[in-house]
Amino acid sequence: MSSPSTSSKPRVLFVDQSGRLGGAELYLLDVARAYRDTSRVVLFEDGPFAGALRDAQIPTTVLESAAAVRNVRKQDGLRALLRALPGLFQTVARLARLARDYDLLFANTQKALLVAGLAGWWTGRPVIWNLHDLLTDDHFTRLNRWAAIWGANAFATHVIANSEASRQAFEAAGGRVPTSVVYNGIDPSPFEAVSSSAVAALRAELGVEDVPLIGLFGRLAEWKGQHVLIEALSSLPTAHALLVGDALFDGDQAYARSLHQRVAELGLADRVHFLGFRADVPTLMTACDVIVHTSVAPEPFGRVIVEGMLAARPVVATKAGGALEIITDGRTGCLVPPSDPAALANTLSSLLHTPDATELGRAGRARARRVFSPEAMQSGIDAVLSRVISNNGQP
Ligand code: UDP
Ligand code: GLC
Repeated sequence: MSSPSTSSKPRVLFVDQSGRLGGAELYLLDVARAYRDTSRVVLFEDGPFAGALRDAQIPTTVLESAAAVRNVRKQDGLRALLRALPGLFQTVARLARLARDYDLLFANTQKALLVAGLAGWWTGRPVIWNLHDLLTDDHFTRLNRWAAIWGANAFATHVIANSEASRQAFEAAGGRVPTSVVYNGIDPSPFEAVSSSAVAALRAELGVEDVPLIGLFGRLAEWKGQHVLIEALSSLPTAHALLVGDALFDGDQAYARSLHQRVAELGLADRVHFLGFRADVPTLMTACDVIVHTSVAPEPFGRVIVEGMLAARPVVATKAGGALEIITDGRTGCLVPPSDPAALANTLSSLLHTPDATELGRAGRARARRVFSPEAMQSGIDAVLSRVISNNGQP
C-alpha cells in the first residue's frame, strides 16, 4: 500500500456514476480540474462527461463492470438491487485496487457513495460524499432514501451538501455524518466575454430579433417543470421562449414528447423554440430578456439560476429548496410559487415591461459573483479535504 501524499495537493479518487453532463458532473469537472495533477476521476459509464474530463486533461477511468450498478434506478425495489450484486462486487474490487494510490475517495453521486464506501472500507481510505440531492419524498422512494442515509452513515467521513436545503433534508432523513455546505462556484468569465454582436447573430439565427425572449435552461424532466412555462406563455402573446436542454435520463423522453404535443395544442409552435443540449449557455442566456427556473419539486441547488444572474438577466425562480439561498425576492431576482403558470406569467409580464428589470439583473450578477465564485467553491473543498486528511479519516 503506498503512503498518503506529502505534497500540498491531496490525491483524490473522484467517483461519479454518470457519463452524461448533468449539473453534478459539470460541478465535478470544475472541482477535479484543480486536483488534476494528483487525482483521477472514475466513472461508471463512458459518454460526454468522460469526453469533457479528457479534454480538460483530467486522468479518467471508466469502469465498464459498473453497468449493473448503474442500471439500478431510483424507483427500483429490492429485487433489482439483489440482481446488481455481482457487478457491484467486481466494481468495488477494481475501485479498491485503484484507491490504494490515493489519500481519499470523493463520491459525487449516490451509487458512487455505495461503491466508493465499500472500497474505502476495504482499503482504509476515508470517503467524502458530495450530496447534490434533496433526500425527500419529492425526489426519492423510501428505500432509496434509506439506502443513501445508510451508505452515508456507514461509510462517509464527511458530507458536502450543495445547499443548506440539501444539508437539512439529509439531517432530517437521519444523516449523522459531519456536513459542510459548499455552493457550486460558476466561472463568470464566459459570461463577461459574450459580445453584443454574438448576441445579435444568435437572435437572428433563431429568428427572434425583436421579440421579448424568455429562456429556460435545464434537462427536460417533469420535475424541472418546462410545462409550467409553456402554460404561462399562452397568456404572454408576444413573448417567445427558448427551451435549452435535452432529456438526459430514462423516462424523460416521454415528458419531452408531451411538451411538444402541448405546444402544438396551444398553437405555440412558432413561439417555443426547443434547442436541445447546447454548449453556448452564456451567449444564449445573454440573448434572453428574462431567465426562468420552473422546477415543480424543490431544486437542491440550481446552477442555472446562478448562471442567469451572471448573465445579468433578471431570473425568476421557483420559491423552494436551494433557490431561496440564491435569490432574495425582489432584490436579486424574483421567486414565484411552484406549478403556478398564472403567477409566473404575471411576474414575467411585469419584468418584460419595466426598466427595473435591468437593475434586478445587475444586483443578481453582483451577488452571484460574490457568493457563487469558483474561488469560494475551491476554498470550501480544500478546507474539507485537508480536515479529513489531517484527521486521518476520523470525523
Ligand atoms: N446545461 C448546458 N446545456 C444545456 C442545458 C443545461 O450546459 O443545454 C447546463 C447548465 O448550464 C447548468 C447545468 O447544465 O450548468 C444544469 O445544472 P442545474 O444545477 O441547473 O440542474 P441539474 O440538471 O443538475 O439538476
Ligand atoms: C444536482 C441538482 C441541482 C444542482 C446540481 C449541482 O443535479 O439537481 O439542483 O444544482 O446537482 O450541485
